Amino acid sequence: MDLDRMLDRCQTQQWSVDDLDWSPAPRALSAADEQLVVQMFTDMAAIERLAGAMFVEQARRARDPRLQAIFESFVIDEERHAVVAERLARHYDVHRLKAYAVTPALTAFAPPFLQAIRTVSDDVANGYITAGELILDIALLRSLDDFVADPMSAQAMQRINRDESRHIAIDYHMVAYYASDEYLLDLHRRPSPPLRDQLRAARAMALVMVHAAPFFRGVFFDPLGRIDPSSKRIREVFKNIQLLAAKPGVRRRPIAKWFLLCMEVFNHPLTGRFLGGVTARMVGVDRSVMSWLTTAEEMARASRATFDELAEQALRAKTIH
Ligand SMILES: [Fe+2]
Ligand SMILES: [Fe+2]
Repeated sequence: MDLDRMLDRCQTQQWSVDDLDWSPAPRALSAADEQLVVQMFTDMAAIERLAGAMFVEQARRARDPRLQAIFESFVIDEERHAVVAERLARHYDVHRLKAYAVTPALTAFAPPFLQAIRTVSDDVANGYITAGELILDIALLRSLDDFVADPMSAQAMQRINRDESRHIAIDYHMVAYYASDEYLLDLHRRPSPPLRDQLRAARAMALVMVHAAPFFRGVFFDPLGRIDPSSKRIREVFKNIQLLAAKPGVRRRPIAKWFLLCMEVFNHPLTGRFLGGVTARMVGVDRSVMSWLTTAEEMARASRATFDELAEQALRAKTIH
C-alpha cells in the first residue's frame, strides 16, 4: 500500500453534500416501503456516525502521520455520509406517515461498543471495524440502494461508495499489519496492560455481547430480510470475513482463533445441535451466516492472495447483481 498516494486520494476525492442534485422528486413508494426506507436511512445516519467514532479511535492509535491523516479524512467522510443519510431520510419521507427515530437497539449498542473499541487491543478493535464496514457497505448500503431503486439514492450511494472503497482498502491494510510478524514483535516488546485495564476491556466486551444480538437483528438482519430476502449480500460479507481467516497471519491472532472456534462449535454436528444458538449469539450474528460459506478451494486461494487482492475481492462483491 502506497500511503502517500492513498492520502492524496483521500484529499482530492473530498466532496460536499450540496454537490448532489437534490431536486428530483422521489419515485412513488407504497406506505410500507416508504416507512422502511426512511427508517433505514435514519439508522444509516447513526451507523455512519458510529463508523466515524471508530476512525477517531484508529487515528488516535496510528503512529504513522500519513495513516493518522488518512483516518482523520475518514472521520470527515463518515460525518458527510451521516448528513447525506439524514437528507435521504427526509427526501423519501413524502407522506409524513410517522415520526422516525434511530432504532433503540442501535442507540443501546453504540456506547458500550465504543467503550469496548477504546479499551481492547489494536488488532481486536481493527477486526471489529473491518467487519463492521464490510457489513455496512456491502450488505446494508448496496441492498438499500437496490430496494429504493431511485436516481437520488443511486447518485448519493455512488459518491459514498467511492469513499468506502478507500476505507475498505485501509481496513485491509491494517488487518495485514496486525497479522504481520512486525506487529507480533512490537506486541512482545510492549509491557502487557495492567490487570485493571484488562478487566475493563473484558467487561466492555461482555457488555457488547449483551447488546450485539439485538443490534444486529434490529438494524441489519431484520431489515435486510425484508429488502434482500435472498440474503445474498449479507452472505457475501460473511464469506469475505471467512476468507480473511484463511490467511495464516490472521489465524494466529486471538480474535480470529475465537471466531474460528465459534465456527467449529456451530458447524460440528454434535456441539452445533446443543450450542449452535448460544455460539451464534456470542458472535452476535444470525445463524444463517455461521455456516461455512466458502469452499476449501476458495480458502486455499485466499491464503495465497495478498491483502490488497482480498480487499478488491470484497469490494467486487458490491457490484454483484
Ligand atoms: Fe460511510
Ligand atoms: Fe466507511
